[in-house]
Amino acid sequence: MTTITHLARRAATIAVVALLAVFIALTGAAPADAQQVNPRELSVQEEQLMQQLQRGEAVSGRVSIPNERAGNLITPAGRDWSNLHRGTMFTITVGVIVGMLVLLAAFYLIKGKVRIESGWSGRTLQRFNTVERFGHWLTATTFILLALTGLNLVVGRMLILPLVGEEAFGTMTAWGKVIHNYVAWPFMLGLLIIFALWVRDNIPSKVDAEWIRNFGGFFKKGVHPPAARFNAGQKVIFWSVIIGGAALSVTGIFLIFPELNASFTGWQWMQTIHGIGAAIMIAIILAHIYIGSVGMEGAFDAMGSGKVDLNWAREHHSLWVEDELGRGEAKPRPGGAERPVAPAE
Ligand code: HEM
Repeated sequence: MTTITHLARRAATIAVVALLAVFIALTGAAPADAQQVNPRELSVQEEQLMQQLQRGEAVSGRVSIPNERAGNLITPAGRDWSNLHRGTMFTITVGVIVGMLVLLAAFYLIKGKVRIESGWSGRTLQRFNTVERFGHWLTATTFILLALTGLNLVVGRMLILPLVGEEAFGTMTAWGKVIHNYVAWPFMLGLLIIFALWVRDNIPSKVDAEWIRNFGGFFKKGVHPPAARFNAGQKVIFWSVIIGGAALSVTGIFLIFPELNASFTGWQWMQTIHGIGAAIMIAIILAHIYIGSVGMEGAFDAMGSGKVDLNWAREHHSLWVEDELGRGEAKPRPGGAERPVAPAE
């Protein structure tokens, strides 16, 4: 009996010790386990997300804000669109811009710089006043900033990232996006100013047909088709800037404020028009910058000092010169000396 009692007591002691060991093991291990489980769970979820992404499935979650669409990280339609967009937009953008650069290089090689055929006269005409030049340079500088920061979004990942590395590219792209969104507003102001100032002189007229028939006189020596304040080529630039700029502004506003779009498809349309419109407009402006600077002797002065040489004006805007001279506008160049004619290229 004593032995049985003794055995029972020993069994009870072992059971209590075992229970205690289990309790200590459980309670002691709990915090450590809790710390390990969470990260493991997270990594499992991450892996699932990656697998879902690779399988082309939608990755969505729950959100507590009214905009339920914000719960979609990516949808198959969104990914297809993104791939198509990246590839197609890249090709169109690079194609249009490189195409224009090749054309301009060919024009320069064949034609060289367009000279003032009758040489510098030494007399000048006021072509653009201060307000006009302010409107032009506001539109021009903001457009160039928008073009560079916008191009980075389309071609940067492919062309710039490999050169500067991920960190620098990330920083410059984030800043570029901020610049793009803010500089858009002064660009729109510039558009309004030049539209108000120049729309009257850019209405198509009969003389434009003659200018176009003669290719502006660019390819024949001694041919200078008549033109008023703006010739047909400049009218094309003006209307491209106004219509293209307005289209980029409207679609840009829909992109800055996505909630304005009625549907996701609407937003995709805005992005497509914005991207393709910008590529075309950049190409057109490249031609404009070329002819307004290195491509044509005497042209830059119009937007630099605001005054152009009388002979330049006679060759490119004969009807406008007649008008201005009727008002007694031509003035001797300060210092009176004629500019030396640079040797032909
Ligand atoms: C460095 C860049 C630029 C230069 C050197 C330049 C130069 C010029 C010059 C010299 C003129 C006057 C031409 C004349 O006497 O009739 C002009 C006019 C004009 N510019 Fe620019 N420009 C530049 C950029 C831009 C940009 C980026 C835009 C618009 C986005 C623009 C829009 C216009 C318009 C609408 C006109 C009036 C129409 C015309 O003459 O073609 N310019 N520019």
